[in-house]
Amino acid sequence: MSENFEALLQENRVFEPPTEFREKAKVSDLSLYEWAQKDFLGFWADAAKEIEWFTPFEKVLDDSNAPFFKWYTGGKLNVSYNCVDRHTKTFRRNKAAIIFEGEPGDSRILTYQELYREVNKFANVLKSLGVNKGDRVTIYMPMIPEAVIAMLACTRIGAPHSVVFGGFSAQALKDRIDDAKAKVLVTADGGYRRGSIVELKKNADVALEGGTTIEKVVVVKRTGQEVPMTEGRDFWYHDLMAKAALYCEPEQCDAEDMLYILYSSGTTGKPKGIQHTTGGYLVGVHTTFKYIFDYREEDIYWCTADIGWVTGHSYIVYGPLSNGATTVLYEGAPDWPQKDRFWEIIEKYRVNILYTAPTAIRTFMRWGEKWPKGRDLSSLRLLGTVGEPINPEAWMWYNEHIGGGRCPIVDTWWQTETGMIMITPLPGVIPTKPGSATKPFPGVEADVVNDKGEPVPPGQGGYLVLKKPWPAMLRTLYGDPERYVNTYWSKFPGWYFTGDGAKKDEDGYFWVLGRVDDVINVSGHRIGTMEVESALVEHPLVAEAAVIGKSHEVKGQAIAAFVTLKEGVEGTPELIQELKQFVAQKIGALARPDDIFFTAELPKTRSGKIMRRLLRDIAEGRALGDTTTLTDPAVINKIKEQYKEEG
Ligand code: WTA
Repeated sequence: MSENFEALLQENRVFEPPTEFREKAKVSDLSLYEWAQKDFLGFWADAAKEIEWFTPFEKVLDDSNAPFFKWYTGGKLNVSYNCVDRHTKTFRRNKAAIIFEGEPGDSRILTYQELYREVNKFANVLKSLGVNKGDRVTIYMPMIPEAVIAMLACTRIGAPHSVVFGGFSAQALKDRIDDAKAKVLVTADGGYRRGSIVELKKNADVALEGGTTIEKVVVVKRTGQEVPMTEGRDFWYHDLMAKAALYCEPEQCDAEDMLYILYSSGTTGKPKGIQHTTGGYLVGVHTTFKYIFDYREEDIYWCTADIGWVTGHSYIVYGPLSNGATTVLYEGAPDWPQKDRFWEIIEKYRVNILYTAPTAIRTFMRWGEKWPKGRDLSSLRLLGTVGEPINPEAWMWYNEHIGGGRCPIVDTWWQTETGMIMITPLPGVIPTKPGSATKPFPGVEADVVNDKGEPVPPGQGGYLVLKKPWPAMLRTLYGDPERYVNTYWSKFPGWYFTGDGAKKDEDGYFWVLGRVDDVINVSGHRIGTMEVESALVEHPLVAEAAVIGKSHEVKGQAIAAFVTLKEGVEGTPELIQELKQFVAQKIGALARPDDIFFTAELPKTRSGKIMRRLLRDIAEGRALGDTTTLTDPAVINKIKEQYKEEG
C-alpha cells in the first residue's frame, strides 16, 4: 500500500516478554494454545464456565445452519447480571467499577454496588417508558457513566441497544434510528469536547423532526445549557430516576437473543447493522479481556475508545465489567486543557493498563515526548493498540516513552463484526514484533489466502480469512441476512472474509496491511467511500464524486474526493470549503474530506465502474497501474495533470 507498510514488512526486531512480567503473567507458556488447538469446542466450553448461567447450555456450537452459527444453545443468562450483580455478592461490591473523568476535571467513582443500583433503576425507567424485551433502544451519549448505565439497563431487560457515536450528525442518527426501528432514545443535553459543548439534544431534535419510530426520549443533564423539551416525548433522566423502583429482575435471555446492534461502514452507502447476541459475545469478550490484558484484581484499566465504537462496547464496558475490573471512562479530548491530559489521568489514577489507537500514538509523537515525560507513568505495566496497523516507529515510541521499555505491547486485530479480539499476542508468552498483531488468540483460526483460497507462502500478501467460527462473532446484519452472507461468507465459502489484506512471515506472524475493499480507515474509524460519495452528490452543485483513502502520516488514511460539478458550475476554493462542511454535516466531522479536487470527468471502466485504484495512485503520487480497461485513458492523464497543479 504505502511506504509505511513496506517499512513494516522489513521489520525484524523481536521483543521477548520482560522476565518480570512473564513471571507473574496469567499465561506464561503455550499450553492454552495447544489445548484450544486439540479441543476447540472443549476450550470454548470451558471458557463459558466463567459466566453465570441461569440455565446451562446444551451445545457449545450449532453449525447446522451455517453461516448462521449459534453458540451455547439452550443456555439462559443475563449480561447485566454477569457484569454487575454477581460482583455485588463478593468483596467487589465496594470496588470501583467505573472511574469517570469529565473533561472539565470533574470526576466520579461508581462502585459495583452503586452501579448495580443505577442499572436496576434505569432498567425500571425503560420499562416504564414501554420498552419490552426485544425492543430497540438508541443511545446517543457523551462518555459519561449514564451511557454505560443505559447500555447495561438495556441488557437487563433484554432490549437490544444501538449506540450511535456522539460525533455523528443528526442525519446519521436518524438513519440509524430508522434502520433499527428504535422505540426509545437516550441522550444528553450535551457533552464536553475540547472546551466546548457538543449539542447532542439539539442534534437529536433535528433527527426526530418529521417523525421516526422513537416514542420517548430520555435526556441526561450533563452540560446544563437550556434545551427544549417536547412535552409528552422528552423526559429528564434525573426526574425519572428519582421515581424509579430500586430493583429490576434480570430477564432470563437466551444465549442467542440479540444483545445489540452496532452500525459500521461497509462498501455501500448504507451502514451495516452488525448484530451481536448474548451468550457467545459475553464469553468472547470476557475470555479475551482476561488473558490479553493479563487482568489482575487490583488493576486499573483504561481504554481510551468511545463507547460509540465496538472497542468501547467490548473493552470499556462488557469485557472489563464481566471480569469485575475497574474501568476508566474519560469524556474528552487528549489535548484539553493541555497536551498531557492522558498522562495526567494515568498519573492521577495510577492506571496499570492502557489500550489506545495508533493514530493517537502518532499524534502524541508529534506533540513531543516532553508531555509524557512531565508525568509519572510508572504505574503502567501493559499497553495495547487497536484500530489500524501500527507503524514500527510509533510502536517503538509507545514502548519507550509511554511504557518505559518495561511494558509489553499487545497489538490487537479485530473488527466490529468479530466482537472480540482475534489476533494478538498474549503478553506473557508471545514475543512481539513492532507492527505485527502476531498470532491468533487460542481457539481462533486465521489464515492468509489468495483469490482461489490457497494459503500464500510467507512474505506474500493475500486476504485475511477466519477459518473457524468464534463465540463473539456477528450473527447477521440487522434486517439483511442476505447481505450478511454475501459480504462475509461468499468470497470463500465456509470461511469468514475479513475485508483486510495481510501477510504472514516465516514465524507465522500476521501482518495486517489494511482494507482491500472500499472502506477507509481514518484514525481507526471506518468510513465507506460510498457513504461520503452519496453525501457529496446530495449537494446541488455536484454531478459525481469518487472518494478514496490516501495514506496520511497521523490518521493512517485521509479522505480525498474527486468531484465533477454540474454544467457551468465553477470549482472555487470557497466551494471546496462548502463541500467539506456539507459532508461533515451530513455524516459527522470524522467524514469530512481532507482534500477535494474538481475534475471534468472521472476515470471509469467500460462497464461504468469508477476506478478508485487509479485515483489512489494519483493521490499518493505513484506511477499509474493498469489503465487498459478505462473507457477513455486520456481522462486519467488530465486528472493527473490537474492534480499536480492543485495538489
Ligand atoms: C482495522 C475496530 C491492523 C482492520 C476494533 C479492520 C487493524 C478494521 C487492527 C476494523 C490492528 C483493527 N492492526 N488493522 N491491530 N485493528 N484494524 O470495525 O482494517 O472499527 O478490518 O473495529 O480496522 O475496524 P472496526
